[in-house]
Amino acid sequence: MAASSLTQTLTLQSDPPQADLDDILCSNQQQEQQKQQELLISSSDTSPFGLGSPRQCLTEESHIDRAWAHWLKLGRPKLIVAPMVDNSELPFRMLCRKYGAEAAYTPMLHSRIFSENEKYRREEFTTCNEDRPLFVQFCANDPDTLLEAAKRVEPFCDYVDINFGCPQRIARRGYYGAFLMDNLPLVKSLVQKLALNLQVPVSCKIRVFPDLQDTINYAKMLEEAGCSLLAVHGRTRDEKDGKKFRADWNAIKAVKDALRIPVLANGNVRHIDDVQSCLEETGADGVLSAETLLENPALFAGYRTGEWVVGSEGSDKEGKLDQTDLLVDYLKLCERYPVPWRMIRSHVHKMLGDWFRVHPHVREDLNAQSKLTFEFLYNMVDRLKELGIKIPLYMKDSHEDRVPANGLATRNV
Ligand SMILES: Cc1cc2nc3c(=O)[nH]c(=O)nc-3n(C[C@H](O)[C@H](O)[C@H](O)COP(=O)(O)O)c2cc1C
Repeated sequence: MAASSLTQTLTLQSDPPQADLDDILCSNQQQEQQKQQELLISSSDTSPFGLGSPRQCLTEESHIDRAWAHWLKLGRPKLIVAPMVDNSELPFRMLCRKYGAEAAYTPMLHSRIFSENEKYRREEFTTCNEDRPLFVQFCANDPDTLLEAAKRVEPFCDYVDINFGCPQRIARRGYYGAFLMDNLPLVKSLVQKLALNLQVPVSCKIRVFPDLQDTINYAKMLEEAGCSLLAVHGRTRDEKDGKKFRADWNAIKAVKDALRIPVLANGNVRHIDDVQSCLEETGADGVLSAETLLENPALFAGYRTGEWVVGSEGSDKEGKLDQTDLLVDYLKLCERYPVPWRMIRSHVHKMLGDWFRVHPHVREDLNAQSKLTFEFLYNMVDRLKELGIKIPLYMKDSHEDRVPANGLATRNV
């Protein structure tokens, strides 16, 4: 591809480049301003509202209308790459988009470090023009700090997302993620702060409470606080192991039924049939997938690993792609959009896990490299192919015809 046609990667080395952004955002902003003027309700306060705080004056009704208008403007994405620390970075998002993903979350970013540390911003958040719709996710426990971080990314994304779902020890120590489920007033203040002060809508990602009514009350509180899109991971804070605990789609359905904003379902989406079942059973507006996408970034294009062929309805045949092809695609994207090597290493292990189980000595060679290079990794893929074992991805007969050779699948789910 000609260098001139390459998309420039947008990094946040310092404040957003305002002049360029103004060009990009100008027409949108004018439309937004007009819409906001229309949506302002008349009140005794007749002072003009600055652009920074129009949402303070919106009724609940117009909040819901705006939430849907935004979702429709984005094309109602159904197939979404979940946020994954060190794993849903730009090249991986672009790979998944190539194979059917319709939107993607960044990895969780730490709002305080993001506001304070330029190196962290530069390394942990990169994007490009094609990387949309994009949800930028933060963890936070201080509304002002969260807002400061969010302001830096809002020109580059479609939602600023707050992570209320992380159950890890580090989140307990840092007091964020799912541990804020014990402090709902703080949760509310974080959402309100963004909803009142950002131009882009706020989304939230939550886990469920053990008690269904608690979950519904929690979700309603988020909606009332100004959340415009809610992703529900159907596991509780204590159900950390996704392989051990099935996500509760009934709880997600109950939230969807109780809310008026768009709701996304997360958990147990391991192949394309799960997408269909999940949408049908929960009524959700879209699904997120995480762990399985790491092994099989072409999941949303209808490809499945051998593990999910047995028992699937209809006839599966070997697809045109396997995981080594996907890895090569990913490496090319990493050359174009550089990211830290630890992220690349993690994806190599996830995508080629099945291959390494057959050829453990290739994994050992990889592990022996304290410093990786693209040359080493491309050679490693060639070596695996020369070893002669085939580990295909599968695809239903009827589906593969719909996937062009260069990916970019469109799915009718
Ligand atoms: C490697 C990895 C990193 C993750 N990092 C995040 C994160 O940064 N933010 C978040 O909200 N969830 C994170 N999660 C959770 C996923 O987004 C998702 O909620 C969870 O894995 C359930 O989806 P699944 O059943 O499709 O795996 C992570 C999961 C994995 C596997």
